[in-house]
Amino acid sequence: MPDTSIVNVKARRVWDSRGRPTIEAEVHTACGSVGRAIAPAGASRGSREAIDLRDGGVRLGGLDVSRAVAHVSGEIARRLCGMDVTRQLEIDQALCALDGSGNKARLGGNATVAVSMACAHAAAHAAGEPLWRHLAEGQPVRLPLPEIQIFGGGAHAGRRIDIQDLMVMPLSAGSFDEALSMTAEVYRAAGALMSEHGLLQGVADEGGFWPAFSSNEEALEMLVRAIERAGYRPGEQIGISLDIAASEFGRQGRYRLALEERELDSVEMAGMLVEWCRRFPVVSVEDPLAEDDTAGMGLFTAAVGDTVQIIGDDYLVTNAALVRAAAQEGACNAVLIKPNQVGTMTEALAALSAGKRAGFGTVVSARSGETEDVTIVHLAVGWDAGQLKVGSFARSERMAKWNEALRIEEALGSQARFAGRDALARNPARKPA
Ligand code: PGA
Ligand code: ZN
Repeated sequence: MPDTSIVNVKARRVWDSRGRPTIEAEVHTACGSVGRAIAPAGASRGSREAIDLRDGGVRLGGLDVSRAVAHVSGEIARRLCGMDVTRQLEIDQALCALDGSGNKARLGGNATVAVSMACAHAAAHAAGEPLWRHLAEGQPVRLPLPEIQIFGGGAHAGRRIDIQDLMVMPLSAGSFDEALSMTAEVYRAAGALMSEHGLLQGVADEGGFWPAFSSNEEALEMLVRAIERAGYRPGEQIGISLDIAASEFGRQGRYRLALEERELDSVEMAGMLVEWCRRFPVVSVEDPLAEDDTAGMGLFTAAVGDTVQIIGDDYLVTNAALVRAAAQEGACNAVLIKPNQVGTMTEALAALSAGKRAGFGTVVSARSGETEDVTIVHLAVGWDAGQLKVGSFARSERMAKWNEALRIEEALGSQARFAGRDALARNPARKPA
């Protein structure tokens, strides 16, 4: 047995896809294995997320991470050195206890998530396995159904439209490889349509086209046309998935649609979304109502949850207790898993497992601020989440993830199974896993 005790933990400042500082952690073991991981960063964050520790002040917009870096090289390194890197649970418990704040406010969720993921990589390295296989622990895995952004809006595109992500899900694909080539056709068709209509204005934070639409509905119509122009039947071969990110423009039961200069209450907001689900081939909706609007979430889920997947992102912040509560209340039927929302691998897995136990759909997700780090792809496969959300089909911080999934599919060879449309949650027919 190789000696997998941790001998060194260090961190460095690197830069993310928005040109902002972020933290990379590196973990070394006695047997010479090394693991490395980079913390991503969100722009439309839930208020209950783990705290992203930034320096503040004026330099680099206050976003520098020198305090988080110092925590890793200092007290985190001192605490973890000597521990067995293969004991992920004990490592993550030690990180939580050392932080002591309940939301990683002291050490920084960016520091803890980078270290936690780096430990997982080092453990896989020591075992001579790819991370996904190491995490699967011999259980069967599937390549996830991808959710891929075509148009970006909301906080990622100067709030040009209220909806944050308009995405496609290639339902009829037989493999991950086919799912990507279907998406590539839609992305190309969408770009051509936008340019023909004089609407092309570059790309948003996650690589989707930055739209100049005059209404949310126009964006939905254009997406349907792009799917058709690419030669696919909307709803049947390719479904539409929306991230409303409603906490960005709604609170205390009031929703302000900036583009249309309208204010809706919770019932009207849910009603508008129900109408969109009837008019357009929508298969999944994320954060339809705001993080403080459990009643609205429940109303929407009761109305369309038998045919539409309803994902909690800001609403659940990768928190197992919130997932269990949402299942009890019927507030949604799927959970987004973003490891940096909670700050450790173990807590992210707990949220995912709570979702599976409740019969929820589970979607591993990137953030809008990303890097070349591809850890989340290994989590999606190794934990058999069934779905993966990474942003659009452009820019290498996104493509690195899609391409990594292709490598995993190839490595699995004839054993590769693609989750496909079965991964989508439905109420109440879906049986708990
Ligand atoms: P983010 O949001 O900008 O916080 O990463 C992405 C999302 O809402 O899914
Ligand atoms: Zn979201």
